[in-house]
Amino acid sequence: MPHTQPPSAVSDSQHSPADAIDRLAVLGAGTMAESLLTALLAPPDAVSDSGADSVVDSVVDPVVDSGADGGHIAPGDVIVTAKHEATLEKRAERFGVATSLDNVEAAADARVILLCVKPQVAPSVLESLRGTLSADQIVISIVAGLTTQRMEALLGDGVSVVRAMPNTPSRIGVGMTAVCGGRWAKPEHLELARAMFARLGRCLVLDEKHFDAVTGLSASGPAFLYVVIEALAEGGVKVGLPRAVATELAAQTCLGAAQMVLETGHHPALLKDEVTTPAGCTVDGLLTLEEGGLRVTLIKAIVEASRRAHELVDG
Ligand SMILES: NC(=O)c1ccc[n+]([C@@H]2O[C@H](COP(=O)([O-])OP(=O)(O)OC[C@H]3O[C@@H](n4cnc5c(N)ncnc54)[C@H](OP(=O)(O)O)[C@@H]3O)[C@@H](O)[C@H]2O)c1
Repeated sequence: MPHTQPPSAVSDSQHSPADAIDRLAVLGAGTMAESLLTALLAPPDAVSDSGADSVVDSVVDPVVDSGADGGHIAPGDVIVTAKHEATLEKRAERFGVATSLDNVEAAADARVILLCVKPQVAPSVLESLRGTLSADQIVISIVAGLTTQRMEALLGDGVSVVRAMPNTPSRIGVGMTAVCGGRWAKPEHLELARAMFARLGRCLVLDEKHFDAVTGLSASGPAFLYVVIEALAEGGVKVGLPRAVATELAAQTCLGAAQMVLETGHHPALLKDEVTTPAGCTVDGLLTLEEGGLRVTLIKAIVEASRRAHELVDG
């Protein structure tokens, strides 16, 4: 099958975890793969802080270079697969990576295999790799609902697997990812995955029992918050603001509130109380939110998304 620019063969034995991803095969080239590649192929300083300039740079102009500065992944060390040749042409043009329609061929030379296909497709892709992987290769899956136990059953005994659950803001270096290791994943394999996703924002090592919850909260969460931002902006328009201004006010306010929670470490309720002066305007707004059931609606959204995450792989 078509195979352009084979990835370079680079010795990996002396590398630190972040440097060790010297040959990466990305199986599946959709929305998430594109987000992750955008950030992984950007220079480290473009994704390590979340300033607006670096955000724009990493989206608009993914860097194509040698990978010699601090261990970021070079396009020449990446191969991407998809179902359709047209998808691969787009990814090759955008990122300068090698491409193949053959998952087994793509995975053969890779140190890290990043599984980015839909949950319904993942079992057959993993099964096709059964018996083809060696002990020094690592399979990292971002597939919702796919457990490490199921991955190991499909791939066969002894294969090192890591389960990761990132989100789309990883594209601009403000992602949230959780990772956990399978039965044969060594601590250095988990650290390699953690370091890779930490380049794309925050990354927590969590027990696998939490992964459906993580999927419902931080992986689906950006969609819920876009609705919140859209609705806040709509409120601004209703009280007379131009739409672009209202959207900027709403988005930056959400960013600021989120950053306050993360940087102060204070409980959100305490920070809310700081804004809420007696008999002021905020308390009236809060009363309206309670009447509308915002709190319970958001709780139910996370519960439902987590429940659905559990069902995904088996349809
Ligand atoms: N979307 C999110 O926010 C999010 C967050 C966290 C995790 N995830 C997980 O990320 C995974 C990918 O989601 P997505 O939104 O990126 O999906 P997507 O946009 O539909 O992309 C799926 C990709 O898989 C490719 N594909 C299909 N069959 C294949 C095969 N047999 N071999 C290799 N590639 C194949 C498709 O190729 P073609 O383009 O050629 O059809 C497409 O590029 C899912 O498992 C999801 O659970 C998603």
